[in-house]
Amino acid sequence: MSSDSPVGEGLGARLKAICQAAQDVPVVWDIGCDHGHVGLALGGAGAREVHLVDPAIGVQQKWLELKDADIPRSFKVFYHPKKGEELHVPRNSDSCFVMAGMGGKKIAAILTHLVPQISEGCRFVISPHRDLPLVRAQMRELGLGLVCEQLVREGGRFYEVLVAHVGPGREVSPYGEAVWDGDDGEAYRQHCLAGLAKHRDATSEGLRRFLTQRVQVLPIR
Ligand SMILES: C[S@@+](CC[C@H](N)C(=O)[O-])C[C@H]1O[C@@H](n2cnc3c(N)ncnc32)[C@H](O)[C@@H]1O
Repeated sequence: MSSDSPVGEGLGARLKAICQAAQDVPVVWDIGCDHGHVGLALGGAGAREVHLVDPAIGVQQKWLELKDADIPRSFKVFYHPKKGEELHVPRNSDSCFVMAGMGGKKIAAILTHLVPQISEGCRFVISPHRDLPLVRAQMRELGLGLVCEQLVREGGRFYEVLVAHVGPGREVSPYGEAVWDGDDGEAYRQHCLAGLAKHRDATSEGLRRFLTQRVQVLPIR
């Protein structure tokens, strides 16, 4: 696959990171696509099929009204007006499933529905806007192998982007590893601790314990 410019160019830092994590896979499923920027950017970067999935009526209208002339001819676009939990996908190994900007509970439910349908080698690019520990727990339960994880900062907000696949890989850790280690790690830790002040459930307690025990490792000068 080839492209003249880096995939996701012109999008914000979060969507760009998601596009880059999902590139070089022939079939893309953009689940919870809304604007469709991710799927369409990946089609422009060489994916041969892009599946846009979203049950919202407004999104349905937008995609159903899209004229053939508006869609680049270099790739095929399929629109599925349904929930990710209702999708039936072919059992092949050349697909990437992107799930971003939805809550963790929903993403965990979609993962549970999809993983038994697909083959080893399929990739997931996952970036929930909340309840990350729930998604991580479900990824562990389903035996997904972690490829990499990354923290993205955009407009004063933080986003974790996880890349995993069906098959062997590193175990997904309950609260993340690499996301705390970069330049923004300490700011993210403080941000999460502040957000946890309102929550008292078991998952939040676990994350709070993890974050309070975690000390920032500073380089020796
Ligand atoms: C905030 S948008 C995220 C758009 C894009 N993925 C992003 O990250 O910028 C969330 C979208 O998920 C869709 N959605 C909600 N529940 C869904 C489900 N169960 N399956 C698929 N899409 C869903 C909503 O209709 C909405 O368009």
